[in-house]
Amino acid sequence: MTEIFRLDPFNPDPNIIHKAAQIIQAGGLVAFPTETVYGLGANAFNSHAVQRIFLAKGRPANDPLIVHIQNKDWLDKIVNNRPPKTDLLVNRFWPGPLTLIFPRKSEIPLNVTAGGNNVAVRAPSHPVAQALLAASGLPIAAPSANRFGHTSPTQASHVLDDLSGRIDLVLDGGECPIGLESTVLDLTQDPPVILRPGGVPREEIEQLIGKVRLATKDKSKETEEALPSPGLMERHYSPHSTLILVENITGNREIAIKKILDHVSQVQQITRKSIGILTVSEETHYYESVQDLEVISLGSLNNLQEIGRNLFAGMRTLEQAGVEIILTTDFGEQGLGLAIRDRLRRAASQIIRV
Ligand code: TXA
Ligand code: MG
Repeated sequence: MTEIFRLDPFNPDPNIIHKAAQIIQAGGLVAFPTETVYGLGANAFNSHAVQRIFLAKGRPANDPLIVHIQNKDWLDKIVNNRPPKTDLLVNRFWPGPLTLIFPRKSEIPLNVTAGGNNVAVRAPSHPVAQALLAASGLPIAAPSANRFGHTSPTQASHVLDDLSGRIDLVLDGGECPIGLESTVLDLTQDPPVILRPGGVPREEIEQLIGKVRLATKDKSKETEEALPSPGLMERHYSPHSTLILVENITGNREIAIKKILDHVSQVQQITRKSIGILTVSEETHYYESVQDLEVISLGSLNNLQEIGRNLFAGMRTLEQAGVEIILTTDFGEQGLGLAIRDRLRRAASQIIRV
């Protein structure tokens, strides 16, 4: 059975935190809010507890986990040496949505790192995550608290929808303020490589430590796009509805919106499939005259934080409304735009570039 406790995200009840910490110490699984998305946590030093994470999520063993720590003082327990740029980065961005990859200490079980010699570490800033780490006195291995392949959870209800009955406890601290996962930066390479864009924008990292590389998109996506029936393979971050991303490469948003409207009328003419649109407040009016559309505004075009915070929840809302096809655009690659586009690409069965 999965227990659920609601708590004040800014001032979590120490008794509830204590109970959650005891579950972690005993090798159990606790889902907890972070500033990015909900994590599914277990004692990072206990390989059996870590194994339970993979089972609960249905996650393949070759996908490594992030180890969460309270602050940089815990780093020496987890990592073997700190590359030169470490201190600059952690002093500026920790606690916060930046995950760093280091050489692994042998105390970290191999299932955490999927057999590899490097370990991913981050110090989350969310008060509930901080309190849980402090009370348990342990590093906590935690992937996003969704079933493997599904959209990351930004609310406790999302966690329950995916994992109810499979984990011990959910700490409900309300909505995650960032709503996109952390930026993953590999410090074992020089220049460092962004493996996943996320809550800390690339520009802010480069301002601090100079140029970083962006990992090239994996080839599997390309093969997948070339498939005659896209949408059949399991992907990351994917809603159960089929998502079609219209990537706006010209910067002229009207072109992208027109493409979406064309697609809607095509689909409505050929099939009876229900369609949902993820859009922004400035653009909802384009869809008002179209019948049978579920339209969700993610926020204002001028506020990428707001769009990022609402993105995953928007996908889940449309999915729960039974929408079969979701159409949306990206929002460029400045700041959080890069992470938003990355998540949309991963969720998409089809990408149309205009
Ligand atoms: O914001 C976040 O990062 C959230 C919250 C819960 O902290 N966690 C999260 O974990 O998104 P997960 O497991 O869903 O994604 C972790 C990402 C994966 O892309 C994984 O491949 C990468 O980090 N990763 C983890 N350990 C790694 C390692 N040793 N080397 C390279 N990549 C690693
Ligand atoms: Mg994940």
